[in-house]
Amino acid sequence: MNFRPIIYSDFKYLYKLVGNLWCFTEFCHNAKNARFFTSVAVTEVFATTNFSLVATINGKPSGFLLANIGNIPTNNKHVARFNRVSKKLYTLSNTENQGITEYLRLTKAFNNLKHQIPTDKHVAQIIFFATTPSARGTGVGSALMRKFTKVCEEKGIKVQYLLTDEQCTYQYYDRHGFHKVAKIPEKITLNSKTISNNIFLYTKKI
Ligand SMILES: CC(C)(COP(=O)(O)OP(=O)(O)OC[C@H]1O[C@@H](n2cnc3c(N)ncnc32)[C@H](O)[C@@H]1OP(=O)(O)O)[C@@H](O)C(=O)NCCC(=O)NCCS
Repeated sequence: MNFRPIIYSDFKYLYKLVGNLWCFTEFCHNAKNARFFTSVAVTEVFATTNFSLVATINGKPSGFLLANIGNIPTNNKHVARFNRVSKKLYTLSNTENQGITEYLRLTKAFNNLKHQIPTDKHVAQIIFFATTPSARGTGVGSALMRKFTKVCEEKGIKVQYLLTDEQCTYQYYDRHGFHKVAKIPEKITLNSKTISNNIFLYTKKI
């Protein structure tokens, strides 16, 4: 296994991973809108991160960890692009379907919880952490986390934070030294079905 920062050719893997994890086809009426949702989500990840780590096996990406270390400002180009695409998302929510409105409502709940993360140069926030389905359970995620923690230590970071929800593998954090410090009771209602989707804030001292 090797590690490197993200490069352009990784984007197709990242898009596929994000699209599958966040089930955008469930939120949208058509595949075109699901692709647009995915691109908004990926753009948001890049607008909020200043650090990337990709695990590769035989040259192919098998896991991603994207983070903001020490509250260093992110790339303005990504922020401007995110502002542009999210405006389009709001326009779509007026005309398209309930799924987009529901997605925007959940995003707002995440952002409310995000305010509990201290803005401090000793803080790192994990924004996106996932391995490809075929790599799961083979140690790739833990290797990424170890490497990331080493980088944090070198940069004087004292505490890591992350936001996640019940649809994600949040149990991973319970088993790997993180503590749940906040829980917001949430739900997702789609196509007349409602499921529980509590949102969590985790932290770990390093
Ligand atoms: C979380 C994730 C990145 C871990 O990556 P991974 O490559 O599977 O991690 P590893 O193989 O190093 O370790 C797997 C560990 O996670 C635990 N785990 C994985 N899925 C789990 C689940 N559904 N419930 C409980 N524990 C789980 C395993 O038991 C194992 O724990 P152990 O080290 O104590 O044995 C991966 O499961 C994933 O991509 N999940 C989907 C995306 C996601 O939800 N990301 C995290 C939330 S933002």
